[in-house]
Amino acid sequence: MKIGVIGLGNMGSAIALRLHDQGFNVYVWNRTKSKADQIARGRKIVVEETIKKLIEDTEAAIVMVSDDKAFREIFYAPQGILESIKEEYIVVNSSTTTPMLSIELWEKLRSRKAYLIEAPVLGGPNAARKGELVILVGGPKRIALKLNEVFKALGEQVYVSERIGDAMVVKLAFNALLISNLQLLSEILGLVESWDIDTNILKQVLDKTIFKPLIDKYYTRLLSEEYPVSFKLMLAAKDLEYARRTAEEKYQPTPIISTAATTYRIASLYGFGGEDYSRISLFLRRRRKWPMPKESTQ
Ligand SMILES: NC(=O)c1ccc[n+]([C@@H]2O[C@H](COP(=O)([O-])OP(=O)(O)OC[C@H]3O[C@@H](n4cnc5c(N)ncnc54)[C@H](OP(=O)(O)O)[C@@H]3O)[C@@H](O)[C@H]2O)c1
Repeated sequence: MKIGVIGLGNMGSAIALRLHDQGFNVYVWNRTKSKADQIARGRKIVVEETIKKLIEDTEAAIVMVSDDKAFREIFYAPQGILESIKEEYIVVNSSTTTPMLSIELWEKLRSRKAYLIEAPVLGGPNAARKGELVILVGGPKRIALKLNEVFKALGEQVYVSERIGDAMVVKLAFNALLISNLQLLSEILGLVESWDIDTNILKQVLDKTIFKPLIDKYYTRLLSEEYPVSFKLMLAAKDLEYARRTAEEKYQPTPIISTAATTYRIASLYGFGGEDYSRISLFLRRRRKWPMPKESTQ
């Protein structure tokens, strides 16, 4: 299958490289073209000048951009996805967006006899490079099946629902659980440290409990002073806000998720937004002198 990847940030780049390594013909487009040129260098990856050309050359495209706003921009732009779409083309929403956006785009694409498939992913760039993502697939089974080989190359699939929007709701539910937990874990680290108790003692205790897998994966990462960016903190803030808004659509209260959304948003305002989301621990444990937020007039 000739597959496109639109959006070559941390995740889109890793996905494009994995598909290339697995023998797919990969066509890429990125707003900042230099990133596309960089991943294509020395490889048989085609860098497209426009989204229109990418759609002409491929049968489906995985879209991996930041958020609803970015997706809308590339979707509705002149020579963007909607203007360039052809019959039977499959747009794969792997970005973490609201389900409301997926439903809107599905309707626009169906009016042009094309399709949207939802395929948000669990796992970061390292998992993508190794083909170890968990892909939450949503949309008509008959259409999703056409992407089976592509999804198999990227990881394990969980088919969520025929109904567009559902896969994104499940993705937001998982991310809200994980990201809120990292806030909680950071807070209890701060609590223990503020009483001059060795954090290794806390680890020894948590290791004997239901929290062990979480501790195994995140304790060292949260405590480290430096960590390379795998998932930007500002995107974690966005996911919590989308989870809150998505629940609100159905009048469902989310008091803890809403609080975590505020915490991560404020950490972003204090300059942590472009860093790895595990840096929430540095923010909450006051490990840095906080600069005043840029917006502040004081
Ligand atoms: N990183 C992870 O671990 C992870 C895991 C699962 C899901 N996700 C989700 O995957 C998506 C991408 O995440 P990421 O980590 O790859 O983010 P990233 O590194 O920040 O990359 C963002 C991508 O979106 C593009 N973009 C942003 N605004 C745009 C606009 N207005 N028009 C066109 N393109 C625009 C960027 O283009 P430029 O290069 O031109 O800026 C870049 O290609 C997000 O929805 C995120 O929540 C991330």
